[in-house]
This record gives sequence, C-alpha cells and structure tokens, in this order.
Amino acid sequence: MTNKLKYFIGNWKMFGDFTSIKIINKVNIFAKRLKKVNKKNKIIFCIPYTLLHIFSSKLNNNLIILGAQNCHEQSGHGAFTGSVSSSMLRKSGAKYVILGHSENRKSGETNSQIKKKIESALEEKLNVIFCIGESLQDKKKGKTFFVLRKQIRDSISKKFKLNKIIIAYEPIWSIGTGKIPKSKDLRKTFNFIKTNFKSNFKTKKFPIVLYGGSVNDKNIKMFSFISEIDGFLIGGASQSSKKFIDIIKNYYK
Ligand code: PGA
Repeated sequence: MTNKLKYFIGNWKMFGDFTSIKIINKVNIFAKRLKKVNKKNKIIFCIPYTLLHIFSSKLNNNLIILGAQNCHEQSGHGAFTGSVSSSMLRKSGAKYVILGHSENRKSGETNSQIKKKIESALEEKLNVIFCIGESLQDKKKGKTFFVLRKQIRDSISKKFKLNKIIIAYEPIWSIGTGKIPKSKDLRKTFNFIKTNFKSNFKTKKFPIVLYGGSVNDKNIKMFSFISEIDGFLIGGASQSSKKFIDIIKNYYK
C-alpha cells in the first residue's frame, strides 16, 4: 500500500514576490545533497500565478518542480475576468496544480466544478493535487469517511488519467491551526482513501495520498512512522526555506 517515493509539496497560498526565489534556491541546494544520499523524493512548490513564468525561466536544471494553486474549469481562453486556465498554467511552466483546496471550496467551489477543473488540467497534461478533507463538524458527527468518499466520487471520473492524480488529505480543522489528527486516525483514514479509490476506480495500484494541515519540523517525525502517507502538502512552513528543509531533514532522521 505504500508508495516509496515521498512528496514534499509547498503550498505558498497568497505569498511571495520576485525576491522569494531565494527560498526555492536554498531548498534546491539541499535537494541536491539529498539526491546524493539516494533519498527518493519529489519537491514541488505551488506558487502564485504571478511568479510561475519568471521562476520557471530561472530554474533550469533544477530539482524543484513548480506548480500552481488553482485554475478555471474552462480550458484555453474566454470571458472570465481574473481567471487563469490550465493551458495558461502549462505555458507558464507549471507541472502540477492544486485543485479542490478547502480555502477555495469555502468561497463556493463545488465538487462538480472541481471535476471540470481536474479534467481540464489533465487535458493539459498537468499533474493534479486533489484536496479532500472533512470539517470539524463532520468529524464530530462521525461523517469523515462519508464526506471523503463523496468528494472523491463527485470530482473524479473513471475516464480520467488516474495515475496523474495525487490526493491530498487535508482535514479543514487542521489547516493553519496547529492541530493534527491522531496517528491511529490517520492510519485508518489513509487506508480508507486508498482502498476506496482503488476499488471504486478499479485501478491496479493504490493512489498516492499526501497529508496536509499544520505540518512542521516538530510533528513531522510522528507522520514519518505512518508508512501509508506518501508525502505532505505544506502551507505556512513552506514559506521559509529553513522550516521547509527542517521538515524534510527531520522526516528522514
Ligand atoms: P498549513 O496549510 O500547512 O499552513 O496548515 C496546508 C494547506 O493549506 O495546504
């Protein structure tokens, strides 16, 4: 059930300007050292649209991969003021895109909209980081699995290129709060997501599933003992090279 390759994905959210490339450059130096000791991982930074093109032009021969944080559901171009399509992302250098983040669901994004976004991203050959997660209320009512199952089924089609979709399990109550799930609950939830996905979509392999929500250099060790977790979506702590590097260092310690 475990996929050995580990993902460390930074979600910068509404953060970063032209000078923030120094954060990525420092992480890149660290990534090169990590490669020498044969650690198999992918380091991805999902940055604001405004930085994609300039950063991708500066990051040649780099171990860091760039991604975006959302896209419009319509491919190509159209009359959607303020929006960015998946083809625009690809042309700007993104290889990944985060879709279905709870911060976007909160402002009205629906499962069916997310499904269209995933479809358009896959058409552009982008890898999708598809976020799912329950609210505190859902959790208290014991509805976590019900919610996760619905989010997955309503946003993913059997016809999609499923091996291009990574799932990020991010409990809403954990994002930016410093609160994290108990490890026994995480094990159960990761097993549930993986087996449910595999049987529902009849895939040969289990999907890659990441954890996201208040990951930091202190709690990462606990997560490292849960082999079902294939990597992490890291928000706040990815805005500092030191914090981000310390997370990876402590993970492998
Ligand atoms: P956090 O955010 O690490 O700041 O909790 C995670 C996310 O929103 O992806």
